[in-house]
Amino acid sequence: MRETVSFFKQSLVRFREMGSLVPSSPQLARAMVAEVPVLPASEVIVELGPGTGVFTRELVARFPRNRVVAVEFNQRFAERLALRMPEIDVVEGCASLLPEHLAGLGIPTERVGAVVSGLPLLSLPRELGSAIFAGITRTLAPGRRYIQFTYSKRAWRDATPAGFRLDKTRMVWLNFPPAEILPFTRLRSRAEVYVA
Ligand SMILES: C[S@@+](CC[C@H](N)C(=O)[O-])C[C@H]1O[C@@H](n2cnc3c(N)ncnc32)[C@H](O)[C@@H]1O
Repeated sequence: MRETVSFFKQSLVRFREMGSLVPSSPQLARAMVAEVPVLPASEVIVELGPGTGVFTRELVARFPRNRVVAVEFNQRFAERLALRMPEIDVVEGCASLLPEHLAGLGIPTERVGAVVSGLPLLSLPRELGSAIFAGITRTLAPGRRYIQFTYSKRAWRDATPAGFRLDKTRMVWLNFPPAEILPFTRLRSRAEVYVA
């Protein structure tokens, strides 16, 4: 409950960055993390925009052998998450600098197995959104997954990032508001691009 109140308060003052009034539901968290494929223990999972950590907790529960790196812009959330989950790496910073953050932690991009994003990408300034996509693209090798959720699949119709394929999407009704999961796979070449 305290987390929901804290999230709500941050949303009132920073709505564009937050994109939602309340944290995601456990059902959405489970469905998001279910899209992460089985990964060798040597691979790292990156989470962008963890907020109060709903997806982070699910990631750690489902992938206890993998290192998790969470990149959060909001100082309050980043500090709280680092305190509550000392088993993960919390980076307080902007998702657009993902390759730099990973380099700072000594993690080569080849070791990143998947990126899970809770960022409200389409409500962020366009240049920032493009910079974040570029960072994800530089980070993920072909075949790796970038998993995003949205409250409007329609808004994402023309927003599939270049170099990614959108796989089968999944609706989660038990969330406020209901959300759709967009699992993207990094392609080898632009010629592979299609939208499911
Ligand atoms: C919709 S909330 C999602 C929080 C959590 N994943 C959930 O689903 O409940 C979006 C989160 O992204 C963070 N955020 C927004 N812009 C960011 C950026 N450029 N870099 C890193 N985090 C960002 C916000 O601070 C917020 O915690």
